[in-house]
Amino acid sequence: MSEPELIVRFTDEDAARELRADVREGLTEQPKWLSPKWFYDAAGSELFERITTLPEYYQTRAEQQILQRTAMDIAEITGAATLVELGSGSSEKTRLLLDALRKHGTLHRFVPLDVSGSALRAAVDAIALDYPELLVRGVVDDFTSGLSALDAGTDRLVAFLGGTIGNLLPAERAGFFASVRSALRPGEWLLLGTDLVKDPERLVRAYDDASGVTAEFNRNVLRVLNRELGADFAVEEFGHVALWNAEQEWIEMRLRAARPMRVELAELALTAELAAGEEIRTEISAKFRRERVRDELTTAGFDLRHWWLDDAGDFALSLAVAR
Ligand code: AVJ
Repeated sequence: MSEPELIVRFTDEDAARELRADVREGLTEQPKWLSPKWFYDAAGSELFERITTLPEYYQTRAEQQILQRTAMDIAEITGAATLVELGSGSSEKTRLLLDALRKHGTLHRFVPLDVSGSALRAAVDAIALDYPELLVRGVVDDFTSGLSALDAGTDRLVAFLGGTIGNLLPAERAGFFASVRSALRPGEWLLLGTDLVKDPERLVRAYDDASGVTAEFNRNVLRVLNRELGADFAVEEFGHVALWNAEQEWIEMRLRAARPMRVELAELALTAELAAGEEIRTEISAKFRRERVRDELTTAGFDLRHWWLDDAGDFALSLAVAR
């Protein structure tokens, strides 16, 4: 086994600087917003893991089902020598792809990217142990704001799973697809997981589960701000809101202030005033149709070659080639 590498392109200081800039911007705009990026401290990551097991949250199981059925096809179609995984939280799904590519015999290198250095270190070590013949190079980076050149490897397959693409606003999404495309050569591949437009009641339930785990996940972003920015949000006095925006075809999560509040963010020397009932948008989660995925990929310089669904038709896995 060769030692796994870890390249740091995004440090804790970078994250701290970005958090400050982001929160200042979002809390001084009207309506107020916070980026979903900041949900995922250790507690938030654990809450998200619990979300993936909720009966209402079908996405993770649906994508897993599709991957179980298609991983071998993906290996044969792409013949990838390098698997690049963006936001590699999902080690089970990664292993389905790695196993198929290994069986196919083309895979040499695995390049997981994640903003969390500690999560990535653990993932890289575990994969290196179980796939001793692979070159493993973890890259700590914030790929949502653009993918710097993926210098590693040839015959690449970039996987972006979990429906996380839906958390980007349309303009951010276009920039993201373009930056992935510019990091690739013609003939290389993108594997993309997207949640699909469906009955709004089911969608809302997936983001407002009966056991309240998603509500806790949502409120956790305020705990992150309290800790990291010396803020004094009265976390328990924010209500969880999940609603379907039919025009944009996305779910919005918000936090609603139960009473008028004045929040001090000591580290930003900022005071945010909230009226009773005022809401802070904390996440959008866009839902897709095939035509939208195809059009956006085409615009970015990809051709959509395969579109796979789970049995219920809830979730899609797209395989696209760089033109
Ligand atoms: C991690 C992007 C898949 O948008 O569904 C889950 C995060 N937010 N419940 C999503 C999330 C609320 C999630 N992704």
